[in-house]
Amino acid sequence: MPKPKFHILVCTTNRPPGNPRGSCGEKNSQDLISTFYEEMEKKMLFGQILITESSCLGPCPIGPTVIVYPDGVWYKAVTPKDVVDIMEEHITQGKPVERLMVPDDLWG
Ligand code: FES
Repeated sequence: MPKPKFHILVCTTNRPPGNPRGSCGEKNSQDLISTFYEEMEKKMLFGQILITESSCLGPCPIGPTVIVYPDGVWYKAVTPKDVVDIMEEHITQGKPVERLMVPDDLWG
């Protein structure tokens, strides 16, 4: 098996409704996993991308959170439509999707 070029982490943590932190799972982040796989298949990128469900990555209120390595790009509020853009612009063209990036000042 070749080493994947990209590793994509998708937070699928679920917390009960009303939890003050919220969670990516309650915002349907599981749908992102299937969309990533669909796009990977459409683009014939088998073996080049590793898609992993993740526990909480930290910035819950602005989730669903997705991270793309090796670039270390964090994405916020990702929807299935955004996954299509990430796969086309970032993974295929090498240009991270700036409108979805977690702002640097989040980290303090
Ligand atoms: S629940 Fe997804 S980042 Fe915390």
